[in-house]
Amino acid sequence: MKGRSLLDLADYSLEEITHLLDLAERFRSEGIPRAHADKFFCALFFNPSLRTRTSVEIACSRLGIHPIVHNVGAGVWKLETRDGVRMDGDAAEHVRDAVGHFLNRTVHGLGVRCFADPNASWEENRRDQVLRAIAAVSDVPVVNLESATGHPMQGLADLMTLRRKLDGPPEKRTVAVTWAYHPRALPTAVADTALVAFARAGYGVRLIHPPGFELDDEVMLAARRASQGRFSIHHDLDDGLYGVDAIYAKSWGGRGRGGGAPAPDAYRDWIIDSRRQALGAPAGFMHCLPVRRNVVVTDDVIDGPLSWVAEQAEARMWTQAAVLHELL
Ligand code: CP
Repeated sequence: MKGRSLLDLADYSLEEITHLLDLAERFRSEGIPRAHADKFFCALFFNPSLRTRTSVEIACSRLGIHPIVHNVGAGVWKLETRDGVRMDGDAAEHVRDAVGHFLNRTVHGLGVRCFADPNASWEENRRDQVLRAIAAVSDVPVVNLESATGHPMQGLADLMTLRRKLDGPPEKRTVAVTWAYHPRALPTAVADTALVAFARAGYGVRLIHPPGFELDDEVMLAARRASQGRFSIHHDLDDGLYGVDAIYAKSWGGRGRGGGAPAPDAYRDWIIDSRRQALGAPAGFMHCLPVRRNVVVTDDVIDGPLSWVAEQAEARMWTQAAVLHELL
């Protein structure tokens, strides 16, 4: 894997993903070796972060890598990613110069967080312009720290959590990835990655959402193909949760809504509470965080004995250390 980028988990084989998870598990039990002393990793954040930023910095430090974290547009220049444009707008620097003519010569790896643009169309966001433009001019590995189309680092941490929490073969287990109400229209990246990653790993996957909140057709097709007949879509939340082993709650904006319009009030009761959790096998509760309490999930569920959110968040550190260890 040395020298490769990680833009999408789908670019990695199941064997490679298993290797990264095994390594993350080894780091968790034996510690992270200082195997990359005197290297530098530069993370470019176009959007806010708590977990990704913290866990990348810790993973780098433990590996001996010096992390350099920039908030793009706040302390470093706002970056242009489109080619051939006349740069007379907000952006003061082009990624061809920031990366191609500088970072390529100074650091050993790049991280990029660049959410979907709420003002752009679904089709535009599918192109993942910012991430792809940076990757195109980078000579060093680029790691996706959540982009418009996916959150592979979260996906690895989620797989590590499922492996730790659910005994036996994945083929005997079912995970529900469910939409939940949120006052803002959020990106689909976490759900996109989770859906396909869980199906590829062998879990039965149920996608639950109200009509109008479909995920990308290609994502649903990839999950269906990988699932070997154990992928289903439900528009009734209770019905979809019946008998599952894990409930992964996440909110995302509807495809036809554009412009970040919130979900209708009629869906305010799409919340994971103890009654709904009890519909599972029993079911562990998963969420990538940050989460709005008592909007997406009730306090008693997220603070309860079957909440796996702390395990997921901690796993970010181990899995990111594994990725950086292998790619750099
Ligand atoms: N789950 C996750 O990526 O968290 P942050 O947005 O805080 O980094």
